[in-house]
Amino acid sequence: MKVLVTGGCGYIGSHTVVDLLNDGYEVIIVDNLSNSKIEVLDKIKKITGKSVTFYQYDLCDKEKLESVFAKEKIDAVIHFAGLKAVGESVQKPLMYYENNLFSTINLLEMMQKYKVYKIVFSSSATVYGSPKSLPIKEDFPLSTTNPYGTTKLMIENILTDLYKADNSFDITILRYFNPIGAHKSGLLGEDPNGIPNNLMPYIVKVATGDLPILSIFGDDYDTEDGTGVRDYIHVCDLSYGHVLALKNPQNGLKIYNLGTGKGTSVLELVTMFEKVNNVKVNRQIAKRREGDIASCYASNEKAHKELGFTCKYTLEDMCKDSYNYVKKNTNL
Ligand code: NAD
Ligand code: UD1
Repeated sequence: MKVLVTGGCGYIGSHTVVDLLNDGYEVIIVDNLSNSKIEVLDKIKKITGKSVTFYQYDLCDKEKLESVFAKEKIDAVIHFAGLKAVGESVQKPLMYYENNLFSTINLLEMMQKYKVYKIVFSSSATVYGSPKSLPIKEDFPLSTTNPYGTTKLMIENILTDLYKADNSFDITILRYFNPIGAHKSGLLGEDPNGIPNNLMPYIVKVATGDLPILSIFGDDYDTEDGTGVRDYIHVCDLSYGHVLALKNPQNGLKIYNLGTGKGTSVLELVTMFEKVNNVKVNRQIAKRREGDIASCYASNEKAHKELGFTCKYTLEDMCKDSYNYVKKNTNL
């Protein structure tokens, strides 16, 4: 089976490509490398012993995208490509709407034209806005607070409308919670440009001495220790969820949360990181970050029941693997 992976050179995409190759799928990647590096392809080969077909194309370029569909006999698509920085999306909303929506519409048009009906889409827990209760289930009300999140919700709506109009489509929407960690080999991981916005990449940079101190955004939330609670999931558990989604015999439009189902506070994560890596992470309490919620964690029951999704990696693994990746790639 030939799978087109858009954004396959990125953080989650590259881990998923490894899983697909290890499972015997043929992989074609389309990525414009706007947030990733070409070297990822060699690293994927080093891990799996297998090569992928790569096109450095922008999905917004419809002609180039069509040339891929015309040339390759694609059976299914996993659609990771997109811009994902919340703060940047607030500053540059048009760029986010243009990139994330045009690329997806082009992709869906090509799929319809070339009768490729199976798609797995990367959505986010951000579509739940501020949940009324926990754990979060797939049928909770949806709302967003920033343009990035709105592009995710708009794409979910586009997919829903498309399925209503043409139920040959077989669509899986995966709502990720907070992916962290890296491949055990230390070859693949998360490499944000500049100063990271997300917690784990920031912790790692403080641990390596690249940044002086971690600001903990608020210690007065209604949580056990007052700091924000999230559902951190190892990227390798998350990536395998995509393989399970492809294997799912159930057709139609399906939506699944991919999280561990367990909430961890900022302080718990920092403390665990220090313990397993035997390193100090300087920190200070700062004011709350605008737009943050107190707690967010998934009910993963539906994914478990219908996809056989389980998480085999622990919080210790996530902390070890995140640090290992950065150490290996900066020669500390
Ligand atoms: P990433 O930035 O590492 O990977 C995205 C890839 O898409 C990059 O390699 C980038 O170069 C490529 N890309 C972007 N726009 C493109 C375009 N127009 N044409 C071709 N390629 C393009 O991000 P990631 O963390 O691997 O996330 C993958 C997907 O999962 C994204 O859609 C993201 O919004 C979603 N998601 C991520 C998280 C997270 O915390 N990482 C959480 C929820 C959802
Ligand atoms: C953020 C995005 C969300 C996106 C997700 C994955 C915001 C408001 N939300 O979610 O839309 O889907 O990333 O990309 O940006 N924290 C600190 N100090 C830091 C960084 C974070 O204390 O330097 C805290 C946060 O307040 C939060 C937790 O750590 O409680 C996790 O933050 P982060 O990694 O940014 O993820 P989310 O806020 O869940």
